[in-house]
Amino acid sequence: MSTIEIVTSLAYLAAAVGFVVGLHLMNSPATARQGSRLSSIGMAIAVAATVARLADDGGITATGWAVLGGGTLLGGIVGLRSADTVKMTAIPQLVSIFNAVGGGAAALVAVADFVRIIGTHDPSFPSRIMVPTALDVIIGAITFTGSLLAAGKLQGWVPGQPLVFPGVRVVNAALVAVMLGGGGYLVAGSHSGWVLVGVVLASLGFGVTMVMPIGGADMPVVISLLNALTGTAVAMAGFVIDNTALIIAGALVGASGAILTKLMADAMNRSIANIVVGGFGTGDSAVSVTAVGGEVRQISVADAAIQLAYASKVIIVPGYGLAAAQAQHEVAQLATQLEQRGAEVSFAIHPVAGRMPGHMNVLLAEANVPYTSLKEMDEVNPEFPQADVALVIGANDVTNPAARRAGTAISGMPILDVDKARHVIVIKRSLGHGYAGIDNELYTDPNTEMLLADAKAGLGELIASVKSLDA
Ligand code: TAP
Repeated sequence: MSTIEIVTSLAYLAAAVGFVVGLHLMNSPATARQGSRLSSIGMAIAVAATVARLADDGGITATGWAVLGGGTLLGGIVGLRSADTVKMTAIPQLVSIFNAVGGGAAALVAVADFVRIIGTHDPSFPSRIMVPTALDVIIGAITFTGSLLAAGKLQGWVPGQPLVFPGVRVVNAALVAVMLGGGGYLVAGSHSGWVLVGVVLASLGFGVTMVMPIGGADMPVVISLLNALTGTAVAMAGFVIDNTALIIAGALVGASGAILTKLMADAMNRSIANIVVGGFGTGDSAVSVTAVGGEVRQISVADAAIQLAYASKVIIVPGYGLAAAQAQHEVAQLATQLEQRGAEVSFAIHPVAGRMPGHMNVLLAEANVPYTSLKEMDEVNPEFPQADVALVIGANDVTNPAARRAGTAISGMPILDVDKARHVIVIKRSLGHGYAGIDNELYTDPNTEMLLADAKAGLGELIASVKSLDA
């Protein structure tokens, strides 16, 4: 082993430690920034080590270096600018575009390697090289088109509702047959460039037909699944070009993406297969105004303000509607106001409140709500019976007691036990449904009163009303 190989191997090891420790630090909001920084340093070390190896190898021409440098600069600027300017609510789309780029790059690495292997006319390449190369092409290409379509659905460029066409199953079966059959043929030592083209096209097509039937509101789970696939493709690319850092980074992304997908599916009490088969939750537009059976009581802003102002324990339950209304600053202001009046205020965070993992945490952090006020479902549920008021803002399914009964669309989904609080005030615009499209039994509970308003406007009025009580 040459000195440069020893030094760069140690650098890859240091990078891997940076990734693992960084990921661990991301477990808590208090250390998450540090974790992100450490992982970035790890990646910078890995890139530097790779450049050092390439330079030592001497196989890259001046034009090659210019292309590499130009690409890095261009990609770096675009990545930095988009991450810097993107709105919090558009993060899932950005992640999806990054997945597409990662998957596409990994697939290109494998395609280049296949072209090189085909050029050698040597059918004896070992399967330890051929299998990861074929899997890299297939998984990377599926992730590329699937992620682009998912981003398009979330951004509204492509209709969010499930899109299905007659014969989709036959088309899917044919695409899978070409992907696997062609992949197997290449692994077996065939030197056909046409088979490679067929596998690439079938995989690109399957990415589209896989994501098309999935509803817009299920996209965060799909994006997490595609993220896991990107990681797997990148790890395969690591095997293809024999790069340890790439294998480790890809494996970490693949594993964490898979765990997150499973957690999200569990928190909705649905299987990953049920989500991928699609057709559930057609997006955020299902607003009905049907009464929920039983009496629904409304409350005025002034009465709600009095209940809140004289409560000693208030639990706020934020949901998708808070994000849609961009009312995070108003809710933070109301919480501060109530705390100044001596109340204990906390925020109950359901794992799938909103439309992406950590949606509520990110939203409230933007309004400087201290993360110590944020309580996860298992921690906060036993506290509801002691709460004078549970203030539900734009949250629906995650508070629906129907989840405790069998036979509903959300049966078995863990919920926040809002109905156990002494009083419940719900701020939303109508009695309309949430993402699951079913009536919320909380609204007819005798302890519940509805403040029918847009979250931002309603909270604004509540703040003014509580303030007037101080005067
Ligand atoms: P939802 O059940 O979707 O309910 C949101 C409510 O917000 C709606 O009923 C809507 O009622 C209200 N709303 C919308 N705009 C509003 C505005 N401007 N002001 C006030 N209210 C507004 O939300 P949730 O309780 O957060 O539950 C999340 C759902 O999404 C769950 O079913 C979950 O399974 C699903 N989901 C979540 C994720 C992740 S990772 N978070 C991923 C996939 C699916 P009105 O129209 O009457 O105002």
